[in-house]
Amino acid sequence: MERFRVVGGASLHGEVTVVGAKNSALKLMAAALLASGRTRLTNMPAILDVTIMAELLRRLGCEVDYEADAGVVEIDVPQVIGHRADYDLVRALRASISVLGPLVARCGEADVAVPGGDAIGSRGLDLHAAGLEALGATVHVTHGYLIAEAPNGLHGGEIRLDFPSVGATENVLMAAVLARGTTVLTNAAREPEIVDIAAMLTGMGARIRGAGTSVIEIEGVTELAPTQHAVVADRIAAGTWAFAAATTRGDVEVVGGVADHLGIALDHLSGAGATVTTTDRGFRVSTGGARLRAFDVATLPYPGFPTDLQPFALAYNAVADGSAMITENLFEARFRTVQELARLGAEARVDGHHVMLHGVEQLSGAPVEASDIRAGAALVIAGLVAEGVTTVSGAHHIDRGYAGFAAAMQGLGADVTREPDDAPYL
Ligand code: EPU
Repeated sequence: MERFRVVGGASLHGEVTVVGAKNSALKLMAAALLASGRTRLTNMPAILDVTIMAELLRRLGCEVDYEADAGVVEIDVPQVIGHRADYDLVRALRASISVLGPLVARCGEADVAVPGGDAIGSRGLDLHAAGLEALGATVHVTHGYLIAEAPNGLHGGEIRLDFPSVGATENVLMAAVLARGTTVLTNAAREPEIVDIAAMLTGMGARIRGAGTSVIEIEGVTELAPTQHAVVADRIAAGTWAFAAATTRGDVEVVGGVADHLGIALDHLSGAGATVTTTDRGFRVSTGGARLRAFDVATLPYPGFPTDLQPFALAYNAVADGSAMITENLFEARFRTVQELARLGAEARVDGHHVMLHGVEQLSGAPVEASDIRAGAALVIAGLVAEGVTTVSGAHHIDRGYAGFAAAMQGLGADVTREPDDAPYL
């Protein structure tokens, strides 16, 4: 077990590069199951989750080569594939649920272990199930497995999601591409990752209209072909660096970042006094060394403020000028960062799904603990604006979303290193 050791008093300056989005890459790997043959994915992040997904695909009978340093995954899918995703893998990687749609479409059956609760709230699968049922599958849970069956194949259907769930939209999309007839999915998620999957599926021969809007129309085809596809840039990693620059009164160019995918978040930062510009290679957030103003945030599905950036908004407002209210509308238990920020001296109070913060000039270094990827990265950033040393335990959480996080921080001038979790706190 390792932790990050963060020396406070840093201001981040320079450039940092973002690669493909974790939350797209994993789904694209699942989408590869829809065609036999060799699919090649590039701009893949070098993270453990990709290794776990590769193992899951291998157990289904695929050959998978993952060159993490080159950012390339090649998946060779046989004609006949397995249809069971075991609990040990699903438990380690909740995104494994995204094989559900492709497997039922390809095999007429999918048995996917139901993931347990995780650190950011209970996240149901009812919308995934309802979507597949509308396409003609029967879905039930037995012995901890969600079993979807469509022995005679899927058919097109009209589906209106109660909530624009990212995962349910993806599963319906990946099932409907091989269904007989046309599917209309209303109140679909609009995230750039949905557009990315639709682009890859289109490259495989699928017929999809409206991805990126709330109505997606899918005309089923009988067969898809393998393809090559470059993963869309990670907007959450890009947003992490934008907040890191703003929180530390720095100046950072996010190479590979797409400002358009971070509209509301970047608008907030420029409204608070930062200068945000698009550059040839990405975008840049500069503060001129000034302490920025506090701002309120309410998380919403895309294009709203992303829940995955909410912990960064907490860290930012902990040291911003003024008071702010942060409202979490997507996940009920996503405020674990608050207690840890309080250990660092933040003036923050949780009230239901709101947090009230009053910015202080500087935090005060202490040992804290990461509860998930984003909380962990946000605590490292908070450590940069704390006096003295902060240690963030649970480095493995951060590694799931950010390859080489400490090295990237060092490249921006911060003193962030890794050390064993039981090293003395100095
Ligand atoms: N929900 C249901 N029933 C369902 C599906 C979702 O009630 O059948 C609820 C969830 O409980 C939650 C809300 O709907 O309250 C949003 O869930 P959604 O399905 O949109 O999220 P997800 O697909 O499970 C992805 C990302 C998350 C990100 C959310 C929201 C992946 C692997 N995960 O999760 O990313 O927070 O969308 O944008 O794509 C992360 O990267 O750290 C992360 C947690």
